[in-house]
Amino acid sequence: MTGALWSSAEAAAATGGVASHPFAATGVSIDTRSLAAGDLFVALNDTRDGHDFVTDAFRMGAAAAMVSADPPGLGSDRPLLRVGDTLDGLRGLGRAARERSAATVIGVTGSVGKTSTKEALAAALGAQGQTHAASASYNNHIGVPLTLARMPPASQFAVIEIGMNHPGEIAPLAQLARPHVAVITTVEAVHIEFFADEEGIADEKAAIMAGLEPGGAVVLNRDNRHFERLAAAAHAYGVGRVLSFGTDERADVRLRAWSTEGWSTRAHITLLGRELELVLATPGVHAAQNACAVLAAVFAAGASPEAALPALAALVPPPGRGRRRPIVLADGEALLLDDSYNASPPSVRAALAVLADAPGVRRIAVLGDMRELGARGEEEHRGLAGPILAARIDHVFCCGPLMRHLYDALPAGLRGGYAPDSAALLPIVRLAVRPGDVVLVKGSLGSRMGPLADALAGESKGGKS
Ligand SMILES: Nc1ncnc2c1ncn2[C@@H]1O[C@H](COP(=O)(O)OP(=O)(O)O)[C@@H](O)[C@H]1O
Ligand SMILES: [Mg+2]
Repeated sequence: MTGALWSSAEAAAATGGVASHPFAATGVSIDTRSLAAGDLFVALNDTRDGHDFVTDAFRMGAAAAMVSADPPGLGSDRPLLRVGDTLDGLRGLGRAARERSAATVIGVTGSVGKTSTKEALAAALGAQGQTHAASASYNNHIGVPLTLARMPPASQFAVIEIGMNHPGEIAPLAQLARPHVAVITTVEAVHIEFFADEEGIADEKAAIMAGLEPGGAVVLNRDNRHFERLAAAAHAYGVGRVLSFGTDERADVRLRAWSTEGWSTRAHITLLGRELELVLATPGVHAAQNACAVLAAVFAAGASPEAALPALAALVPPPGRGRRRPIVLADGEALLLDDSYNASPPSVRAALAVLADAPGVRRIAVLGDMRELGARGEEEHRGLAGPILAARIDHVFCCGPLMRHLYDALPAGLRGGYAPDSAALLPIVRLAVRPGDVVLVKGSLGSRMGPLADALAGESKGGKS
């Protein structure tokens, strides 16, 4: 980035804070592990107190630090932006960044597929104008204001992911982001722990419309069983433009036909009478559906769906999100489908459907616990037995207390092995894998399936394998 993102005067005005010295920050950081020289370091009081890291931040070249108390021992020449509350301060930066921007903003929420859709939108719009989007899944009360605070003033498009775990979280984030286009990818029983039912989740997703700019559009999934409820919510929120996507013949952006060839997907899409041929380097109908949401949002944002197609074709899945990696064995190679970053019932079903069509000698699923399902955990895990049978999978390996319920529900012939955690499961899987196998690894981040996938692929984050 060239030029300042935040001058001390702008940052003080945005936060209601007082700058001890003038400064010009080229970025915003909340974590010294990823801080870049020139950043404004925001000392948040989160899992750790960021004020303990202010000295480190300056050592790493921070331009200034936003604090609610002066860190002891800090040189008096260090530029501080003193505020009452640093999270409020970060929100102030986010709000001001949004206000000074002329960008067309797209907000993305939904039970599954937010980050995939955000990445695809960033690529599709990035091919057509300067586009700002977070590099990761920054979708909560910290991630959303941080992403906005980092938005360069010259951005023409911005894509903001908005997530939630609890009722009431989406509306304030949407009101900060003020999207011109809101996308609800789908509504499923994910993060259901704090909700009575799926309808409650649908209503929470609908709350993204509380932040929609006047004249804005909402993009809804026509195939989702909550479509009518969301369309009614759009009416209630006074949203005049609803664009729907999906395989349903009434969809505005309709997925008419698709086929998976090897590891890519071809789709024929009709967008309000325009015929589009889509190629994706990602297998699975869910990827084609996400692409339909992207094309609808691109259209609603006033950009070109046709110009988005080459950018979508060039997308490759990020690490741990369905990326393919070789497993080198003494006598040949197997293929790892590394989807270890995240798991929920709909995403495991989508991954199993991909595995079903995978070109391999044997199809193997290695599954860790899906978290945040509350009281439905056992039932949701057991419920994967059906999709596993339908996908003609040869062997299933499971780890974690919840996956035990699935493992016990599987026919004996499918059971490859069980262990309490991923570290203990690794040697069991290693012994079983043979050349030509396709091995899906999937689980919630907390199930630590990532290290298992890295070890299978012969790499560990520590450098040795
Ligand atoms: N439309 C979809 N339906 C089912 N699974 C999906 C869909 N889109 C993405 N996924 C899968 O869900 C998981 C999480 O995807 P991600 O885009 O990170 O979602 P989120 O940001 O909502 O958590 C990944 O395994 C991904 O492949
Ligand atoms: Mg995400």
